[in-house]
Amino acid sequence: MEKLRHMMNPLDFSVEELSDLFDLANEIENDMESFSHKCDGKILATCFYEPSTRTRLSFETAMLRLGGKCLGFADAGNSSAAKGESVSDTIRVISCFADICAMRHPKEGAPMVAASRSRIPVINAGDGGHQHPTQTLTDLLTIRSLYGELGNFTIGLCGDLKFGRTVHSLINALTRYSGIHFIFVSPQELRVPDYITEMLDSKGITYEEVIKLEEVMPRLDFLYMTRVQKERFFNEEDYIRLRNFYILDKAKMELAKEKMFILHPLPRVNEISVEVDDDPRAAYFKQVQYGLYVRMALILTLLGMTDAHMNEGLIRKF
Ligand code: CP
Repeated sequence: MEKLRHMMNPLDFSVEELSDLFDLANEIENDMESFSHKCDGKILATCFYEPSTRTRLSFETAMLRLGGKCLGFADAGNSSAAKGESVSDTIRVISCFADICAMRHPKEGAPMVAASRSRIPVINAGDGGHQHPTQTLTDLLTIRSLYGELGNFTIGLCGDLKFGRTVHSLINALTRYSGIHFIFVSPQELRVPDYITEMLDSKGITYEEVIKLEEVMPRLDFLYMTRVQKERFFNEEDYIRLRNFYILDKAKMELAKEKMFILHPLPRVNEISVEVDDDPRAAYFKQVQYGLYVRMALILTLLGMTDAHMNEGLIRKF
């Protein structure tokens, strides 16, 4: 029987496995109908201890579009966590009900604890300021689909690079591809953590750290904007001072290449002016769509229900 697999970190999959996952996601994009019964009879549990719109709903849509069903909670206050139940116990219970679980938790490492006690695949749907692997898969698929390859570009990451887990996950994942130059654009207080720059230094990957977005706009192939993460600040005054540090507007877009793409994991607050939404370079809503395809592909892969698994007779027996 195939070993139970989870998705805690994008690096859990090799570059080759990710390439297969993205190929499958593109197949789904081109012919979603042909996947509409692949998960008949399967159940996805979404256990969200933190707010979400995109991740939870795209996981649920993904399972529904595959023919499966969903259950779960969107608010820990409505679950037995409010009575003090541990994540370990909750996942042991969920393992009795569902075939696969997507979990978001404010505590770093909580989905990993769940995975260690689970009888079903667990997907980290965001843990504190740590990782958000399925957002990273979404970002990688979007980059590959729009740019044609995962490599040989300059990417600017702008905003809250200290607390933004999507940024940490994405940088980590991109270090496995060649020819990528990073430009980190943030106020001093929200710089990318030292462990990330140290990791880039150790791998010989080039990066710059700047404060002014305008200075680097003309050199970017991708601009990954992020929101200042209010929920991770200890001090409201600091949040208020920094929340509007960057606002991408039409004037700044005039400095950018004609073929540059703007990405954002969303939700957006003020950091991208709505006037930019109609710019053909604005790719953040397309990114949401890619998130659906890649989550469908991930569910199929973790359940051992891809054609490759079927051909190899590797379907997991539950
Ligand atoms: N990008 C993202 O994680 O959005 P949600 O918080 O709405 O799930």
